[in-house]
Amino acid sequence: MIEIEDLRKIYRMGDIEVKALDGVTLDIEKGEFLGIMGASGSGKTTLLHMLGLLDEPTSGRIVIEGNDVSRFSEYEKTMFRLYKLGYVFQDYALVPDLTVMENVSLPAMLRKDRTEEQTKKDSFGILQRIGLCDRRDHLPRELSGGQQQRVSIARAMVNKPEILFADEPCANLDSENSAMVLDLFHEINEEMKQTIVMVSHEDWHKKYFHRIVRLKDGKVISDGRNETHH
Ligand SMILES: Nc1ncnc2c1ncn2[C@@H]1O[C@H](COP(=O)(O)OP(=O)(O)OP(=O)(O)O)[C@@H](O)[C@H]1O
Ligand SMILES: [Mg+2]
Repeated sequence: MIEIEDLRKIYRMGDIEVKALDGVTLDIEKGEFLGIMGASGSGKTTLLHMLGLLDEPTSGRIVIEGNDVSRFSEYEKTMFRLYKLGYVFQDYALVPDLTVMENVSLPAMLRKDRTEEQTKKDSFGILQRIGLCDRRDHLPRELSGGQQQRVSIARAMVNKPEILFADEPCANLDSENSAMVLDLFHEINEEMKQTIVMVSHEDWHKKYFHRIVRLKDGKVISDGRNETHH
């Protein structure tokens, strides 16, 4: 579903060149729950941003469901993000002045193919699914970190994206809330066959992934099925 070919990203700052991605080649299957792991600075976020069309590679190719996304115009990228991709960030990135329900509805409201009624129904359904329906009229700051992250997962899922990207979604959570968030990703993957690409550098998260790609200095140093997956 995602084909990545010799992907490179070089940041130039004055005379200094940082090869954040140094020739990554990888195929990601539909329905896979893929973990991208590696030390700080190894290129995990950079790779996720390229795949999520949030930033442009210096060279290489990304093909998502047959679309060579490097040929997309800015407008085509925006539409692709809105209709095909979902994102979860480590700081939740919820809109502080909107309620839980409004935050979750936001991506659906931006789409032209959703009626208000459908958006309401979908948002309600996904909030029910994550067990936060009774909090729908609350503001994000009235929720715990774990609850806020579950709301951000609901927001990412409301449009039923083809691919869900998550960059260290548990970085600001304690282990109990982290487990709750990871269990939710696991269920979304199992029940909806949702393709998930998640960045993590916590070793204990490993058991959630079908497959683990390890990066070091912008290169893939290992890639394999995860035998400890439960
Ligand atoms: N905007 C930027 N400008 C210059 N260098 C950058 C930029 N973004 C990332 N880098 C560099 O690229 C390399 C990879 O960074 P990246 O953020 O992808 O690492 P990471 O694996 O996500 O690390 P962490 O686990 O700390 O989040 C690092 O050396 C980083 O300093
Ligand atoms: Mg990172």
